[in-house]
Amino acid sequence: MVDTMRLIFLGPPGVGKGTQAEFVAKEFGIPKLSTGDLLRDSVQKKTTLGLKAKEFMDRGELVPDEVVIGLVREKLNSAECQNGFLLDGFPRTVPQADQLEILLNSKGDGLDRVLYFTLPKNEIVKRISGRRSCPQCKAVYHVQAIPPKKNGICDVCGADLIQRNDDKPETIESRLGVYHEQTAPLIEYYKAKNVLSELEGSGAVNDVQRRLLALLS
Ligand code: AP5
Repeated sequence: MVDTMRLIFLGPPGVGKGTQAEFVAKEFGIPKLSTGDLLRDSVQKKTTLGLKAKEFMDRGELVPDEVVIGLVREKLNSAECQNGFLLDGFPRTVPQADQLEILLNSKGDGLDRVLYFTLPKNEIVKRISGRRSCPQCKAVYHVQAIPPKKNGICDVCGADLIQRNDDKPETIESRLGVYHEQTAPLIEYYKAKNVLSELEGSGAVNDVQRRLLALLS
């Protein structure tokens, strides 16, 4: 447990951000905010926001900035985030990053580090294609690399695992295109602010964890 830790995990879809975010949030005792999980939750509950977000997500496009910024603002203002947080999947556009900075400045807070995950494209495609997710507790598996003990069943809560709609082959390419166009500019954005660290995302989960801890310590 540390006093405060404000982190962003940045990188292409399927690079392993969510998997490592689980670990780091526990290790440092900070809440993990995944905009992907928050949005999928709203879709599952069929809220107005969820119904609006679904069409963008299914096409592999970004949900409009104002929707996502509203979600994150509410969370960051809540009591659980006052001593730090890990943002997984946010910001994803320059306007989102600008709004985050305005919000943090208004509280007198700053970012400690932005971890930029890298992985060759063929590995990314393999990871996304083999991902299976628990719709109930959000645990994430991979059919080959990180399989559940019982085929198709979540180890944690026993629910049936699913393949995300946006993990289908036809959507993967468009998600990667959207990443390069709209999110990759954040690499230079945070480099210029001297908070960016690059993390090689290849290798086993434990290897990535070790590299990550070395960067954060
Ligand atoms: P989101 O849920 O954020 O998806 P993403 O960024 O595309 O990231 P992924 O969840 O695909 O991958 P990940 O890097 O977390 O990898 P994971 O750890 O699961 O967003 C989904 C959609 O929501 C967006 O397309 C958009 O529409 C919307 N959205 C979300 N945030 C938004 C925002 N800020 N603005 C606008 N729209 C937004 O790992 C992948 C697989 O690899 C898993 O199967 C895992 O088990 C496996 N794996 C992980 N590590 C390893 C390893 N070391 N070795 C082998 N396998 C591994």
